[in-house]
Amino acid sequence: VTLEGKDVISVRDFDKETILHILSKAGEVDSHPVPSLLTGKIMATLFYEPSTRTRLSFESAMKRLGGGVIGFADPDTTSTAKGESLADSIRIVEGYADVIILRHPLEGAARLAGDVANIPVINAGDGANQHPTQTFLDLYTILKDKGRIDSLRIGFLGDLKYGRTVHSLATALKHFDVELCFISPSLLRMPEYVLDELHQSKIPFQEMAVLEDAISDLDVLYCTRIQKERFGSPIDHEKVRGAYRVSMHTLSFAKDDLRIMHPLPRVDELDPAVDDSIHAIYFEQAKNGIPIRQALLALVLGKL
Ligand code: CP
Repeated sequence: VTLEGKDVISVRDFDKETILHILSKAGEVDSHPVPSLLTGKIMATLFYEPSTRTRLSFESAMKRLGGGVIGFADPDTTSTAKGESLADSIRIVEGYADVIILRHPLEGAARLAGDVANIPVINAGDGANQHPTQTFLDLYTILKDKGRIDSLRIGFLGDLKYGRTVHSLATALKHFDVELCFISPSLLRMPEYVLDELHQSKIPFQEMAVLEDAISDLDVLYCTRIQKERFGSPIDHEKVRGAYRVSMHTLSFAKDDLRIMHPLPRVDELDPAVDDSIHAIYFEQAKNGIPIRQALLALVLGKL
């Protein structure tokens, strides 16, 4: 498996062997950090949408490996505000950096950037489509905590329609021996194209509306925020706002080793009282963004 020079756009571009290779390399950099691995390399972070975890963990990952970072977190401070196209911006930035990390509100923007650039482009989230590096850190978190990804019953809760993290993760899980349970209001169901993909891969799944009906059998519950910014109509958002909330009461029906994950940020769907319970691993999950992104950077730059 070699990822040197490759883009990281969608989990669909990665087979099981490559996914496991990335997780294994993340384990290596996690346990044996090499602070000079990327000395002399420059990463550009182009963030056309807000972010805390993805941008800062990429920047931290690069700096901890000895590399440099350029970029922006607010496109209004760039020539995008003067009308420059994404394709032109990418052509310019590839002359300044060795790898580009792109977050953009439009689905397909990362693929376009990857096609334009002659250096690796890593998708840090494109609209409601994909967030592959989040998926790799999610899988890494499950593997670290459970010791396996197979033979697990994994629930997805919340905004399954617009949540790119759940689209990416569900797609990647088709390579594993898992049972999936999708819990959401009907307005926010998992898109048919994801369900079709799972069906074709013979992954058993159920769709449910009530968390309490599902929770007692789950090994992992992956919670998500309602993606208010992606709703076409504020009326639709009002219909589902506050539709679910995970609390210590909800968890009284869960197995002792149920693990709660969340890509974060959270709004009101996950009670902070859960944070100190044995179930909560979402802060650890966010921290795992560092070894995963270090491994990905080193792999696409041909240094691992
Ligand atoms: N999980 C995630 O993508 O968080 P940010 O939006 O803060 O990057």
